[in-house]
Amino acid sequence: MSSVGSQIDLAAPIVEVQGLSIGFAGANGGKPIVVDFDLTIGPGECVALVGESGSGKSITARSLLNLAGDGAKTAAHRFEIKGRDARSFGEADWRKLRGTVTGLVMQDALVSLDPLRTIGQEVAEVISSHRILTDAGAIRDRTLQTLGKVGIPNPADRALQYAHQLSGRPAPACADRVGDRG
Ligand SMILES: Nc1ncnc2c1ncn2[C@@H]1O[C@H](COP(=O)(O)OP(=O)(O)O)[C@@H](O)[C@H]1O
Ligand SMILES: [Mg+2]
Repeated sequence: MSSVGSQIDLAAPIVEVQGLSIGFAGANGGKPIVVDFDLTIGPGECVALVGESGSGKSITARSLLNLAGDGAKTAAHRFEIKGRDARSFGEADWRKLRGTVTGLVMQDALVSLDPLRTIGQEVAEVISSHRILTDAGAIRDRTLQTLGKVGIPNPADRALQYAHQLSGRPAPACADRVGDRG
């Protein structure tokens, strides 16, 4: 086997968190709500957070995108995303990650879509704002490919429609691709 430049370790975790705590100045008497939480997510792995209502599932998931909420105080012994120490990330770093490495699909996925823009515009924005592609034709092709990939029939027609014109599965699927435009 040959070794070429920088090797990608396919088994390396995408997310590794140790000793995460999350609190809010005005909540729980100032004490953390999430205490000493550990989490590792490997490539292709699906991890579910299970717990009673109010136990901190949402703020934990959101903290992985640095979106724990206004006034959140987050600390961790270790917090790495793709091997980089996320504790030192600035807002620009987080914005680059959201919509590429990370995404957030809310329970009501339809609210993630702008009612005044077409599905195609929504998906294309992610591709262009992250400069994944810059050529307009290539962005359009990738948009249609992406819609097809998540199982939307007739992507070319669907791309011209608005969220309210989609029903059932397509809307959450599009929101999934749009993720969090943060
Ligand atoms: N922005 C915030 N300011 C103060 N407290 C908050 C904020 N967001 C969430 N909380 C509190 O954090 C706790 C955990 O919330 P959450 O993560 O939404 O719970 P879960 O998703 O497990 O139901 C709740 O008690 C909630 O009231
Ligand atoms: Mg929740």
